[in-house]
Amino acid sequence: MAEPDTVLTEPPVSVAVPVPAPAGPEPGPRRPDHVAIIMDGNGRWAAGRRLPRVAGHRAGAQAVRRCIRAAIENNVRWLTLYAFSSENWRRPADEVTDLTALLRHYLRSEIAELHREGVRVRVIGEHERFGPEIRAELEAAERLTAANTRLTLIVALSYGARAEILQAARRIVAAAQAGTVQPDALDEAGFARYLSTDGIPDPDLVIRTSGECRLSNFLLWQSAYAELVFLDVLWPDFEAHHLAGAIDVFTRRERRYGARPG
Ligand code: IPE
Ligand code: IPE
Ligand code: MG
Repeated sequence: MAEPDTVLTEPPVSVAVPVPAPAGPEPGPRRPDHVAIIMDGNGRWAAGRRLPRVAGHRAGAQAVRRCIRAAIENNVRWLTLYAFSSENWRRPADEVTDLTALLRHYLRSEIAELHREGVRVRVIGEHERFGPEIRAELEAAERLTAANTRLTLIVALSYGARAEILQAARRIVAAAQAGTVQPDALDEAGFARYLSTDGIPDPDLVIRTSGECRLSNFLLWQSAYAELVFLDVLWPDFEAHHLAGAIDVFTRRERRYGARPG
């Protein structure tokens, strides 16, 4: 019998050489990548100064600026700000008008600066309810800043978690009827893709100012395992040290996700 004329060789063997770990600081406690804030207390801030509520909202807009800067300084990668809830439409018409005007003013005065700072802007909620002009400005802001990577600022405008979950359920039913979704095969990650926060990691830390201890329909699905920190400061008085303090509290919490502590 003829010998085969090709010689089979062993595949090359790679030799693992131990690589020394690079010298550097010890990894510290885990810090939050995503901080979400319920910015509450503008009205009480104004009332305490015998000012109209709109003065509180204006001062609140200044606090938003400080907060974004502080988030960048603290290496927060995702910051969600609850600016207007789907239930806030129940407020008196003059307050809604003031808030809408303030939003328009904020967009015009801040977006260029946010872009310079490397902030990517994203909006969640039924923001089209603020009218075509604001809708166009918000969409322009999203487009302009889409490639920025330093911080993603998610602004929740006319946002309500129940409405969001209901909308997701409706879209899933429609997809199931069209045959593009198999309901039995849908898992939690698959469901979350139908939420307005698709592509955004769940918040690690949810902060509420003003001393109220409730979520007021904010990110109910996404905050399932968020750490909650309630601060006794009215939103217009919020300073960088409040964010740093809440992050410090977060780093001392033990997150268990239902498992036993290690
Ligand atoms: C938060 O401040 C701003 C919005 C909800 C738009 P509030 O206006 O709720 O202030 P308080 O709770 O009445 O003090
Ligand atoms: C939650 O605050 C909404 C925002 C901060 C945008 P609210 O002031 O509307 O909440 P409640 O009414 O006290 O629950
Ligand atoms: Mg309030």
